[in-house]
Amino acid sequence: MGPSTAQKLIEAGYTTIESIAVATPHELSAATNLPLPTVQKIIEAAREALDIKFKTALELKRERFKAKKITTSSKSLDELLGGGVETRTITEFFGEYGTGKTQVCHQLSVNVQLPEDRGGLAAKAVYIDTEGTFRWERIDQMARAVGLDPDKAMENIFWIRAINSHHQMAVVEKLFDMLAKDNIKLVVVDSLTGHFRAEFPGRESLALRQQLLNRHLHQLMRLAEIYDAAVVVTNQVMARPDVFFGDPTAAVGGHVVGHAPGIRVQLRKSRGNKRIAKVVDAPHIPEGETVFAITEYGVRDAEQ
Ligand code: GTP
Ligand code: MG
Repeated sequence: MGPSTAQKLIEAGYTTIESIAVATPHELSAATNLPLPTVQKIIEAAREALDIKFKTALELKRERFKAKKITTSSKSLDELLGGGVETRTITEFFGEYGTGKTQVCHQLSVNVQLPEDRGGLAAKAVYIDTEGTFRWERIDQMARAVGLDPDKAMENIFWIRAINSHHQMAVVEKLFDMLAKDNIKLVVVDSLTGHFRAEFPGRESLALRQQLLNRHLHQLMRLAEIYDAAVVVTNQVMARPDVFFGDPTAAVGGHVVGHAPGIRVQLRKSRGNKRIAKVVDAPHIPEGETVFAITEYGVRDAEQ
């Protein structure tokens, strides 16, 4: 392809062969203003260029065991997650406002810094804050509570405010350089979906929103796999009082991240500072639920 075509692809955020190979012709054409037959050829070329390679089941097993875990500071929540939040995958915490999604993200940003024998990865975190709810004061408290120097703990968290969905996606592109250079093993996106919902409201923009989110998730998944990092995203899901059957918190705007790889954890409020966590649609850990608490020290087991 010519340089102007390449430029159009890059400007539309398609900077890798993989991102082009997994795009649909209509999506790519809409994003780049290139005619459909052209983008069809580009997509075919990208798919050919990608090395399609089988893995054995044993290789898959070994990869699975290479995944590392970050503790949440709650034994019961760690157990529910199969030992903690895993690297090489995306973990989504979803639930209504105030269910503790942001608190869990803060706690993990501190805990990733702990040594491995204490449930950390002796590494740093990136916190992509889309709603302006990151609080360094809370990091200070949580760090002290686990015995880390609070200033050092804060120095090991790279915070950025993503101002819109476009910026949010651009930030993730940048992370490919950053993770290669720095010892970052946790990437938080809090919230994953807020900007996308606000910018693409209504049924008519649902398809476009979904395409962009899919591309964003695909990039996050690549980050997780290439750099052996944990990616943790949040997704506010509003209750629907008009839904009487099934799960009333399931659906506003659809299950945006339902089909992405990874683990989905639903959070619900319980009494006082207690919260219920439930694993849903996890490919390799059993579905189940547990109770934890949000205390002044951070995420902890609930007192019996
Ligand atoms: P949205 O972002 O609005 O969707 O909510 P969220 O799920 O991110 O909720 P968040 O993690 O902000 O949880 C808020 C809850 O955590 C509050 O209702 C408090 O109960 C608790 N919390 C937040 N900060 C503190 C704190 O400093 N001390 C204590 N003890 N609890 C806190
Ligand atoms: Mg929040």
